[in-house]
Parts: sequence; structure tokens; C-alpha cells
Amino acid sequence: MSNQLVTAARNGARGGLAALVLGLSACAGLEEQATDIKPSGPSETTLTPIAPSGRWSVKVSGQASTPPMGWNSWNAFRTEISEEKVIGAAEAIVQNGLDDLGYRYINIDDGWWRKRRASDGRMIVNTQIFPSAQIEGAGPEDTDFRPFVDRLHGMGLKAGIYTDIGRNACSQAYDLHSPNLPVGTTAEREVGLFGHVEQDIELYFGAWGFDYVKVDACGINVYGEEADHVSSQSYRPMVPLIQQGNVRLSDVGVVKDLYGEVRDALVKFNPDGDFVYSICNWGSANVRAWGKDQGNLWRTSGDIVPVWPRLLHSIDSVATRSLYAGPGTWNDPDMLYIGHGEFDENHLTEARSHFAIWSILAAPLLIGYDLRSAPQSLMDIWSAEEIVAVNQDAAGNQGTLAYDSDEAQIFVKALSGRDQKAVALFNRTASPLKVQLTADHLKMKRGTEIALRDLWAREPAGTFVNEIEFGLAPHETLIFKATGPSILDDGLFLSELPGRINVAEDGVLQPTEDPTIFRMIDPWGQGTRTAGSRPGYAGWGGPRVDATPYGQDIRIAGKEYRTGIGILGNSRLEVRANREFSEFSAIVGIDDSSLEQDTRVVFEVFGDGKLLSRSSPVSFGDGAIVVNADVRDADIVELIARQEHGADQLVIVAWADAALTR
Ligand code: GLA
Repeated sequence: MSNQLVTAARNGARGGLAALVLGLSACAGLEEQATDIKPSGPSETTLTPIAPSGRWSVKVSGQASTPPMGWNSWNAFRTEISEEKVIGAAEAIVQNGLDDLGYRYINIDDGWWRKRRASDGRMIVNTQIFPSAQIEGAGPEDTDFRPFVDRLHGMGLKAGIYTDIGRNACSQAYDLHSPNLPVGTTAEREVGLFGHVEQDIELYFGAWGFDYVKVDACGINVYGEEADHVSSQSYRPMVPLIQQGNVRLSDVGVVKDLYGEVRDALVKFNPDGDFVYSICNWGSANVRAWGKDQGNLWRTSGDIVPVWPRLLHSIDSVATRSLYAGPGTWNDPDMLYIGHGEFDENHLTEARSHFAIWSILAAPLLIGYDLRSAPQSLMDIWSAEEIVAVNQDAAGNQGTLAYDSDEAQIFVKALSGRDQKAVALFNRTASPLKVQLTADHLKMKRGTEIALRDLWAREPAGTFVNEIEFGLAPHETLIFKATGPSILDDGLFLSELPGRINVAEDGVLQPTEDPTIFRMIDPWGQGTRTAGSRPGYAGWGGPRVDATPYGQDIRIAGKEYRTGIGILGNSRLEVRANREFSEFSAIVGIDDSSLEQDTRVVFEVFGDGKLLSRSSPVSFGDGAIVVNADVRDADIVELIARQEHGADQLVIVAWADAALTR
């Protein structure tokens, strides 16, 4: 953001961003055309048809207006769970007041099942480890999880269960030594949802009263007929629908539909809407793009392991994806591993970084530790209430990258309080670093005082004007609340409200693996024996805030824009304006990094399905165009970038300085 631009904003001519735009064009000497506010069609152009939806098209309901919080058995116990251990965790949550902070879901993971009953396919609980599920006086095949769930509900908590989208679960492939594997015939050991979606969801939610389900994906991934465990354990083979690491070999449409069936069953068997739906297919099959359409949260990467490089891997899988998260739908970089390995009580700097980054990235906060014996130093991390408050802020924005490098990152999360933002300064390296935080990173005004509050210490940390420098210890994260006047006096940049945006169409032609995610040495036995750790999660080319889809600065006809949304052509964004704003404005054009340079693009703004504004067609190299629209009466504003037919290569466009003003 240039000084002139900020000055123009502060001088506050009418219309917020309109003033900014004028200030900018005056100082930058841009070739600029004003668009008609009245819709006017481009004459000789043939445009790609992309219909506005006129509504918020994400279908998911459930109880996840803020990221889910609670406890899960997996990182603490793997399959070696028991009623005693789970109830012990629940009691510790209550005794330590963690429930008051929002940790409410007590989730059992893999290992709870005995088998699927041969007579009618009903799932049977392993009563050796969950004794309260044994119905008194009944046979061993008559079990009921209701008493266990009631007990959790009686403590004011919620209960979560685990299953798989295929026929078999992960432990049946990876934990063959486990004492808690399903038993019986091949069919009885098919404990996953495949072929039983309605039956199982009705049982888990309707009869047993669970409130949360995590649906894993090993059943559609590692049960091909060539797998050793398929023959050694006599499992029914299933052609893998997912190939981890290669989205083109995955059956994206089928995987998406299978997860959609579960969503429909959850809606059907939870008339009160009291459910949370966690999709766990580890970033495969392009779920980073469609997870929001099927579930409340979706894993964006493979399993977390308690070592530093894996933390970077998990973080990177969500860090550029803020536009895909928002109230009800969350990117999931996996559960907390605080208390173990490189995040244990001897590595509190790392454990705190883990917690602070998960919080600012609006990730689910699911504790994975045996809470019956947790040291106070770890309890202090989970109960850092001002950091939890950042995670749970009602606006539901995922923190965005205000500064990015392989060494340091700065994440900023706009909070619901006026002029309030959380900011985390993250040292990814094993060396001390100096980091400069600026007013521009915070999208706050230069020349005015910005107050910081240290969220670990829970005390004021001074004020600064324009910039302030911090020293970060190796692996350290500083996290503050910053209070100061926003650059826009009477509105917000779209990049400050990713929680209000749905990426309805991303313009991506072919899902492609994202090369920006930290690649660690394989932690599961391969070591460095392969040719290398390769990019493995589709999502490359999705829209980003304050950058192009490929991570470059936004730049139109040689002019750089510090803020905006970078996206591909033939895309559509839905923005929840909720009639709270009077004007939408942006400076649009084809980005200088566009690979295709021969097509033209038209930018359109719709309000509740009605065309409000349309730019004239722009070509590569054309000066930016100002688009304004009166959105006073609009609940949903849609931003469509339409290409002319026939582009052979990717068209990269920008809604620079896009803002909603009051
Ligand atoms: C997968 C999931 C984990 C856990 C295990 C259980 O690996 O990603 O979170 O649920 O399965 O076997």
C-alpha cells in the first residue's frame, strides 16, 4: 500500500475505496477507465457462461460456526482406548475448566468397534473396552453406546464417534498388532460406512446420540487386491478411489459424492442440526477445494507427527487457503499433538507455536493427550484463553499471510471487534530471527498509534507507529492482539473478511498438486529411500488473498497492489454482504503473471443474482479498471471473472483493493 494511497484514504473523500482508487490513479498515472454502474454488455465478445447462484451455495449445516474444540483419543492412545481413558479425559476437561473455554467434543477415534452384526448389519461396540455399552441381561451382540454418550452429555459435553467412508478402517491396514481390531468373518469386519451410510448414521446419531463424526478414508485407499493385508486378513478388495499424491489417479467425483451421502444422512437423522461432520481423507482427491461443500471440516494433509518438519507440512497445507474456510466450514491441518515428541513439556516453545498457529488459522483445537496426568505447563497452553478467543472469534476469518517466506511468516486474522486483529509472528527456523511488523501488514493506518497486547502474557505490550521489530527465538511464535484504525475508514477489504467468502468456482482446469507445502523426509519408514518427497495435495491455483493464485504479488500493467484477491479467469466468488454495506469496489484486470495473454476478460458484480456492474473487456497489459457497485440491498454479492472462449493457458486475474464500504 503506497503512502499516497493511505493519505487518500485518510483524507476520506466520499466512498472509502473510491477515494483510494482515485488517489492511486492520480499518483500512479494509470490508464484507467471508469465502468458503467449501469449494466452494459460487451459487444463483440463471446463469454464463458458462468451463472450467478444468487445465494450462498454451501450446503453444509451442523454445529461449527466456530472451529470445533475438544479432545480426541488418537494422538493420546492410538487404538488402545477404553471407557476409563475417555471418561478420564472428559473429567479432566471439566475439572480444569477447559469446557468453559469451548473444549466440548470428546471424540473416540479408531478402535471402538467389535464387529458388524451378521444378522442385520448393526454395529456392535467392543464392550471389553466400553463396558457400559453392554446391555444388561442381553447377549454379547446387543450393545448400546447410549449410556456412555449420556454420561458425557451429563457432564455438559458432546460426544464424537469415528468411522470410515469405505468398508474397512485404517487400523485394519496399519495397526495389525492392535488388540482392538474388529473380529469375525470378512463381512463382520467391514465396519466402515460403505453400503451402510443411512443405517450407521441413524444408529450413531439417532439411537446412540452422538454429536460429531470423523469419517476416515483408508477403506477407499489401501484395500486394493494387491495389498498384503487384504490377502493376509481376508478383506474384500476394493479398487482404490484415492491415490495419495496423485489427484489425477483419484476418482474425485465419486469420493466427493460418497462424502456428500454422509452429509445428507447427517442432515436427515439430526433434525435438530446438532452434528459436526469431519472429513478425513488427508488432503487427497482435491478435498482442499470441495471439503467446504460436504463437511464442516476436512483434513488438508496427511497425519500430523510430533516433529517440527511435520508441523510445517500441516501448517502449509492450510496457510494459503483462507478463502476456503469460514463459519461452518474449516480447513483441518489435523489434531493437536501438544504433549508429545517435539511438542512435549521439554519443548514448550514449539508446543506454544503449534497452539498459536492453529488458533490464528482457525483450525479445530482437538487435544490429543492423556489428560488424566497432564503437567501444568501443557494445561497452561490449552487454557490460554486469549489465544483460544482468537481461534473462536465469531467473524470466522482464517488468518491470512501478511508476510511469507521459508524462514518467517506473519499471519493476520481480522477479529469481529472493530479495528481489532490478531497477529502471529512465526519463526519456522532453528535460528533466531529478526522480524519487522508493519502497519501495512495489519492493514492499519500509517502514522497512527497501534496498540499490541501479548496474548500469552495476557498483558499490554506497548504501542507502535508504522513498524516495530521483534527478535524471535528458534521456532518461536509471538501472538498479539493489535488495535488500531483500519486503512479504510468505513469498510473492509475483502482480504480482511475471508470468512464471508465462498469460492464457488475457482477456474482451475485440472486439479494440480500444490508445490508450496513443506516436504519432509518420510516419517513412516521410507526415510530417504525413495527419490524424494513430492508435492501431494491438489489445490495449486486456488484463489488467494493479497497474492495471485500462484503466490506472486498482484500486479496489473506494471502496478503492484498490496491487497486484493488473485484468482483464475472463469471464476465466481460469493460474498456474504448481508446488506451491511453500501458499495463494493475493486480495481480489476488481467494480472501481469497471466500465462494466457491473448484472451479478454470481463468482470461482473452481481447482487442476489442481479447484475449490478460489468466492466468492459480487458486484455493482458491493459491498465486496471475501476469497478463499483451499489450493494445496499444485496445479501450475497458475487464476483465473476469471465473469459472469452478459447484461452489455451491459464488466465490470472485480480480483484485488487477489493472492498466493501459502508
Ligand atoms: C488415519 C487418520 C488419523 C486416525 C487414524 C486411525 O490415519 O488420519 O487421524 O484417525 O487413521 O486409524
